[in-house]
Amino acid sequence: MSHDDFPTDDPAVVTCGLPYANGDLHIGHLRTYVGGDVYRRALERLGQETAFVSGSDMHGTPVAVNAEQEGVSPEQFALDWHEQYAATFPKFNVEFDNYGHTHDETNTAVTQQLVSDLEDAGHVYEKEIMVAYDPIDDQFLPDRYVEGTCPYCGAHARGDECDEGCQRHLEPGEVEDPESTITGNPAEYRERTHKFFEVSEFSAYLSDFLDRLEGTSNARNQPREWIEQGLQDWCITRDMDWGIDYPGGEATESPQEGGETAEQDLVLYVWVDAPIEYISSTKQYSERVGAEAFDWEAAWKEGASDAHPEGGEIVHVIGRDIIQHHTIFWPAMLEATGHTEPRAVMASGFVTLGGKGFSTSRDRAVWADEYLDEGFHPDPLRYYLATNGGFQQDVDFSWEKFRDRVNTELVGTVGNFLYRSLLFAHRNYDDAPIADGTSDEVDARIEEAIEAFAAAVNDYSVRAVGGAVTDLARFGNEYIQRSEPWKLVDDDPAEAAQVIHDCVAIAKAIAVLFEPIAPEKAERLWDQLGEDGSVHETTVEAAREGPAGDLAEPTELFEQIEDERVEALNEKLEARVAEAADGDGEESGEEDETDTSDESDDTDDTSDMTDIEPLSDDRIGFDDFQELDIRIGRIEEAEGIEGADDLLKLRVDLGAETRTIVAGLKQLHDVEDLPETKVVVLANMEKAELFGVESNGMVLAAGEDADLLTTYEDAGPGTKVK
Ligand code: MSP
Ligand code: ZN
Repeated sequence: MSHDDFPTDDPAVVTCGLPYANGDLHIGHLRTYVGGDVYRRALERLGQETAFVSGSDMHGTPVAVNAEQEGVSPEQFALDWHEQYAATFPKFNVEFDNYGHTHDETNTAVTQQLVSDLEDAGHVYEKEIMVAYDPIDDQFLPDRYVEGTCPYCGAHARGDECDEGCQRHLEPGEVEDPESTITGNPAEYRERTHKFFEVSEFSAYLSDFLDRLEGTSNARNQPREWIEQGLQDWCITRDMDWGIDYPGGEATESPQEGGETAEQDLVLYVWVDAPIEYISSTKQYSERVGAEAFDWEAAWKEGASDAHPEGGEIVHVIGRDIIQHHTIFWPAMLEATGHTEPRAVMASGFVTLGGKGFSTSRDRAVWADEYLDEGFHPDPLRYYLATNGGFQQDVDFSWEKFRDRVNTELVGTVGNFLYRSLLFAHRNYDDAPIADGTSDEVDARIEEAIEAFAAAVNDYSVRAVGGAVTDLARFGNEYIQRSEPWKLVDDDPAEAAQVIHDCVAIAKAIAVLFEPIAPEKAERLWDQLGEDGSVHETTVEAAREGPAGDLAEPTELFEQIEDERVEALNEKLEARVAEAADGDGEESGEEDETDTSDESDDTDDTSDMTDIEPLSDDRIGFDDFQELDIRIGRIEEAEGIEGADDLLKLRVDLGAETRTIVAGLKQLHDVEDLPETKVVVLANMEKAELFGVESNGMVLAAGEDADLLTTYEDAGPGTKVK
């Protein structure tokens, strides 16, 4: 791995968090996969050699529990879902170079080898621990087979994760008041011998690693806290049949009731073999295309290749719920076994509905298949998921917001520019050479877009990849409007030809730069431009080259979404969400799409509704309200403050003046995405000094995630909110 800007000479591997093979994919999952696919395509546009891999996560209790409830073998159950996922991703133009699964031969072999290496390096030891056990059913209850109370925060928790409370990973034996999720029987703890990986030995390494790590700031910052609190060793085996056998024999001796010892079946914990699939999937890709085309060992093993002594550029794209696994356990495993450390972790915020997590068991979700069945094209959803908010911000999905983004940006800005320019060009010039070259102004503007695109890739911002294109299209609209070629055609044909040539050059640059976000639409545009070959084969270089082709008759690239359509979709969704809430009695808060059963639904709820403060009965008069000087502002600059983990120093344009305002946004937003964002500011807030910086005003934001208030039309800086 290098830390040079992309493109580098080392092979890159972009990975996406593996979906558990246990239920339908929803658009929340798609944020990971679209994000990864956009990023990989963007890297390749810059000329970076890249493999894009993932696979299905077949093991673990989420799968075993669901299979058990359906009365099928976990293998059959997981394979069915695996096949469905493999077929679904391409429908969203998510094109993995290899999509394997964790139960295949490659991953079994690579996992067992890596764990043996870990053991040979002296990083694994055995320990007796207490494991939850259902005495009535005579069954051990690993991970999701057991529920109880989180020892850290008191929330209702699953055996391996405090999913509704502090989000911590929980080790076996930690959950208090354990109960079986299958039978509801109270569980007891029994002593068992398990294998542990010495993660605690890697604290110093991981601290340094985090200093080097690139990607989104949540992935770089959150793990520091866990390290500071002291890392615990990690139990890497489970009392289960379903999984990859612990290498070198499935069994160890374990004391049982009454003192005898019995053979104990141990499989590896699912979170051991799951990330190893990143390596295995890359290996399968190499084996298919040949090591000359892509060398998995050069990418994944330090020192395996003379040309790439530090390995490749590994970029993990995940959701924010699995940061700990990717920034603590996984890099420690890689370091311990001589593998390449990740260069970057991009952790997306969650997609929610009405502010609440998606829930598979409650059908509170927008399903991937459902979106397509409604007749929508995949590319607008890709655009929405990639650009709605910074990557690490949570996004609350609504059909209205989806419509607004599609109608304003895709149809209104990008589509409108392309259609009007290409139609005008086609009608007036057809296949004649239009002008000698692109004007200096437009040349420079295209260059600026390419630079913004490259900067977006190096900032790990898929949103800014989209922004580079919409900004260019916005310029195009302004340029054609101001140049009025329709007036010039008669008066100054040469100048008219120049303007239209310029517009077609912009259209070509849009096709090239929009390919990562909207691959199919970009290809259609490429055809309309009459360019040779496929836009997928081009790099940003093609955006510089200017138009070459014979223009075809253009058609509109994006379709307007009608209001009636949105109303109908909304009604459907609202009915479903209400039903989900009814079914619960009360509503569950967090995302729980790997939820085990409807029975468990009755027990696993901590009500989110109780978190909403009651509306105040304390009324205030209009005069009181008027004392608040609330204004629209535009963030100009955002930077961290030394010594403050959460705070940002903002420069905010308030029309009359630009103020310095300190806001607690650092962990919750992509700092680099904030400039240009419109915000709502309480301008007559008392001044306050924070970490030596005087804050002159307050930026308004909603909730724990500091969801920034903004405006939706063109109210400019200084406009009063009343
Ligand atoms: N199997 C694990 C990942 C193992 S990676 C070595 C897992 N599976 S999952 O099916 O629950 O999630 C798959 C991916 O989708 C993860 O990256 C997860 O963070 C992401 N998301 C799942 N639900 C999501 C939302 N509602 N919103 C955004 N991302 C979401 O975790
Ligand atoms: Zn907790």
